[in-house]
Amino acid sequence: MQFKDPKNNSFASLSPAVWRASTVLFDNFEDFISRKSRQPDGYSYGITGTPTSRQLETRVAELEGAKHCIITPSGQSALMTATMAFIRGGDHMLISDSCYGALKTFSRKWLSQMGVEVEFYPPTIGKNIEELIRPNTRMICLESPGTVTMEMQDIDAITSVAKIHNVKTMMDNTWASPLFFKPLDHGVDLSIEAATKMFGGHSDLLMGTISLNNFDDYDVLRETQSVLGQAVSPDDIFLVLRGIETFELRLREQSKQTQHIARWLEQQPQIETVMYPALESDPGHQIWKQQYSGAGCLFSFTLKEDSDDAIAAFFNTLEVFPIGASWGGTHSLIAYYPAEQQQARHYSPTSKAIIRVSIGLENADTLIADLQKALNAWQHAL
Ligand SMILES: Cc1ncc(COP(=O)(O)O)c(C=O)c1O
Repeated sequence: MQFKDPKNNSFASLSPAVWRASTVLFDNFEDFISRKSRQPDGYSYGITGTPTSRQLETRVAELEGAKHCIITPSGQSALMTATMAFIRGGDHMLISDSCYGALKTFSRKWLSQMGVEVEFYPPTIGKNIEELIRPNTRMICLESPGTVTMEMQDIDAITSVAKIHNVKTMMDNTWASPLFFKPLDHGVDLSIEAATKMFGGHSDLLMGTISLNNFDDYDVLRETQSVLGQAVSPDDIFLVLRGIETFELRLREQSKQTQHIARWLEQQPQIETVMYPALESDPGHQIWKQQYSGAGCLFSFTLKEDSDDAIAAFFNTLEVFPIGASWGGTHSLIAYYPAEQQQARHYSPTSKAIIRVSIGLENADTLIADLQKALNAWQHAL
């Protein structure tokens, strides 16, 4: 028995069909032997996707204002696929020091061992990135605000310089999502989202997306995704398509709650700094105001004193915030980044331990009460 896309049937539904397939079938010999010509959009083998994948890719491309999109099995795989598609030995690659840690590790431990000149630059470099561009610079990686330390990057300034020198730009846009910032409209070539976070929204899957306008690059990316074996489960795609239905509502509400909680936290006597570009006190606030139309649900903060016992008391007192990595779901989360991690970086705005908070959809007063109790415990344990 064969299962065919029932497009000529009268059946219709509000939920997407989940097409599972390792094998794609062909009507005849000629179709089979010319199957490669179906790429980058068509179907030739399960690895490049099924109609379920194309539905999500089309939906994300719409959100990003992009002509094309490719989905990958995680946010990290999207970053890695975009890099592997365009970087070769002998190339020079510029990576913001506040890019996602696993991208930096991949570049440092793998790409640099394959003859790529990997250079980390200060996230707030702006137009001065021009001074770092070499004849073999092939790509600039951006993330704004940065992972954990939340530095805002001047995307407009960096992409303007990159265009003059014909250097590709790739940006991790997961924090703002296309709801609050559309990287392609600001000159970025490859816009990456960890769909694990806001698009999925329920902390139950991993996925990544790469959106772009250039067709030739899209073709290269599709081949790279396939050759690297980056298959995405259609069941997970179904969940992301469902998550996207409520993504805007969730993010708007989470953003509102996050701003309220960040403002409250900033006033507490135990707090040194709250790193959140929507706050007027944040060094990236002006760029955020000029280039972004909203703020994500994630922020970081430092305490006035670093003390192992006090930090342990803070975390172990929390009852509402589960401790865990990741963010963007309906449940709030809290994570810890020890001082050594910031000290090991080339350009960190702090050498202190950082606490990072993702705000979900719980009652804001309940979350504040939990943080208040934990801050009191921190104080008592000093
Ligand atoms: C900003 C950012 N980009 C990328 C990733 C990687 O996404 P994933 O966990 O889906 O690999 C994360 C995950 O923590 C992230 O926070």
